[in-house]
Amino acid sequence: METITQKRPAVVVAENEVLARTVAAEIANLIQARNAAGLSTVLGLATGKTPILLYQELIRLAQQRTLDFSRVVTFNLDEYYPLESDSPQSYHYFMYKHLFSHIPIAATHTHVPDGTLARADIASYCAEYEQKIRQAGGITIQILGIGENGHIGFNEPGAERESRTRLVTLSDTTRRNAADDFGGETNVPREALTMGIATILEAQKVVLLASGARKARAVQQALAGPVSADVPASYLSLHPNATVYLDPAAASQRR
Ligand code: GLP
Repeated sequence: METITQKRPAVVVAENEVLARTVAAEIANLIQARNAAGLSTVLGLATGKTPILLYQELIRLAQQRTLDFSRVVTFNLDEYYPLESDSPQSYHYFMYKHLFSHIPIAATHTHVPDGTLARADIASYCAEYEQKIRQAGGITIQILGIGENGHIGFNEPGAERESRTRLVTLSDTTRRNAADDFGGETNVPREALTMGIATILEAQKVVLLASGARKARAVQQALAGPVSADVPASYLSLHPNATVYLDPAAASQRR
């Protein structure tokens, strides 16, 4: 018999700049403390508009403190499929533009799922992605955003608790929300590669950031509703060390 313990994530509400500063400082402190102890730091990274400010702040801190990234390894949550890595909509491009090109991290230490794989190679590639995370020592801290439908990474409603890195079909809401980036919904890929819920829940610490009124409903459901595949972010209640950082608009439907 499986006992499922439920503990709601801690919640912090503040303006976006404060949230970005707080989480960036936490990451920088973690890297420094682990460097001092001779340990690697494995960052689970997210894309989207929400973490941009966090990455800017992390870049600033990295420069200010001349942070040593030689023991830092990163794994991104997801990537569209199929999509070329040098396409401006790709998460490879996003990470390079918003973070990797501004910090002294070796390219061999950064991992973003490959959107250019042959379909036949996807299953083994995804198993290898999981293996690489384990070999790196597991994710020390996982950064997440949230979709309007409650998705985390590209784990859309219906995603199972035990899911791992895999190919998924994107929901209509997600594709509609990405339409502007791709110059129309028809250009948005129909599939994506994403870490699974089980992959995310294995991180030592999970941080979810949400801003704007468009996220308020999903946030409320994730924090106050039942743990359910209908709202994938609700699985964070199964994590012993999860914190949700909200701006006032994203927190506006909390009761
Ligand atoms: C995409 C990403 C998610 C991200 C979400 C929200 O779907 N795959 O990881 O959390 O968008 O993006 P934004 O922060 O732009 O609202």
